[in-house]
Amino acid sequence: MSHLSSPLMLGTLKLPNRIAISPMCQYSAVDGIAQPWHTMHLGSMAISGAGLVIAEATGVTPEGRISPHCLGLYTDEQESALTRLVADIRSYSATPLGIQLGHAGRKASAEGFDSGAPAMPDVGGWQPVGPSAFPIQNDWPVPKPLNSADIEQIVEAFVSAARRADRAGFDLVELHGAHGYLLSSFLSPVANQRTDCFGGSLENRMRLPLRIAQAVREALPMHKPLGMRINGTDHVEDGITIEEAGILAAALRDIGCDYVSVSSGGNSHAQKIPSTVPGYQVSYASDIRKSSGIATMTVGMILEPQQAEDIVSTASSDMIAIARAALDNPRWPMHALTELGMTPEYPKPYWRSGPEIWRGYKWVHRN
Ligand SMILES: Cc1cc2nc3c(=O)[nH]c(=O)nc-3n(C[C@H](O)[C@H](O)[C@H](O)COP(=O)(O)O)c2cc1C
Repeated sequence: MSHLSSPLMLGTLKLPNRIAISPMCQYSAVDGIAQPWHTMHLGSMAISGAGLVIAEATGVTPEGRISPHCLGLYTDEQESALTRLVADIRSYSATPLGIQLGHAGRKASAEGFDSGAPAMPDVGGWQPVGPSAFPIQNDWPVPKPLNSADIEQIVEAFVSAARRADRAGFDLVELHGAHGYLLSSFLSPVANQRTDCFGGSLENRMRLPLRIAQAVREALPMHKPLGMRINGTDHVEDGITIEEAGILAAALRDIGCDYVSVSSGGNSHAQKIPSTVPGYQVSYASDIRKSSGIATMTVGMILEPQQAEDIVSTASSDMIAIARAALDNPRWPMHALTELGMTPEYPKPYWRSGPEIWRGYKWVHRN
């Protein structure tokens, strides 16, 4: 058996293999409500052969959505739509389904599809909030710094959204603590210039993400795994360091989190990300795994089955996640497992395209 195809326990949830589909914003929601597109997109990922599919960054408040077109989980209607989506997918796939809950902070109210520019009020935009009154970029609105009452409301919003995600039937919750969104901006000295108990020392900068993780852990049933996507680095001087990320991961483990998904960047436009290099974020996951002892997911330019297998077999990371490779080829996990000598189960209606039945498979995949 290949390492990539071996099961992984996250809490009591058994992932059938180590390949996850990374959360991907679809900018296709209406008032935060999932549309048939979401069922189609996540449904296709759920029959990809992956061991876990994580739904896109989903706002815990209206202002916490990345764009006016992002999913939200703060109304009954949004919860009902996601409940239907999970039930529809469950009717033909047992693949574990997770959801990423987030607050976009000072990067909220982006246009979405059309550009990375801020959405103005006439197209549904709003004033973002953040740790401090510093915009992500000069042409972005100045965020309103959160006061302690705002912070309490945001903790409660995460708890409420996690309860809704649980009721909707998701198997796992991931908190978005990366890419410069709210939790990431509190963690990063580049964005967080507060002088109260939420700014300054690492202990203070971690306070909000850890408060949220703890509150969500307590709200979710113990058998449902909880993870957080975090930055291994901000790719700028004075950003979060890999040592700090390791300390954060250890604190998350102590709270009862089951894994961290290690990404990077998004807190500063001065960043220089080596994002064209295959596996450019693997070393961050590996360092954090070693220093904290928590299970890790690594993501970013994981392109080849053998590359994925090597990452898992050398214990650089417990899991790998793919995003664009899965959009390009929604059966990437099945093809990868086949290339590594496994016989993944095809959904019955696709059975005739499997490697054991279809002679064309070898031609198409050249193996
Ligand atoms: C269309 C698209 C939407 C994305 N949306 C999210 C998101 O909602 N949450 C998140 O943490 N990352 C998001 N990402 C980042 C991916 O999850 C992933 O970390 C990144 O694309 C690198 O992986 P890849 O090289 O396999 O694409 C998105 C990426 C893409 C391409």
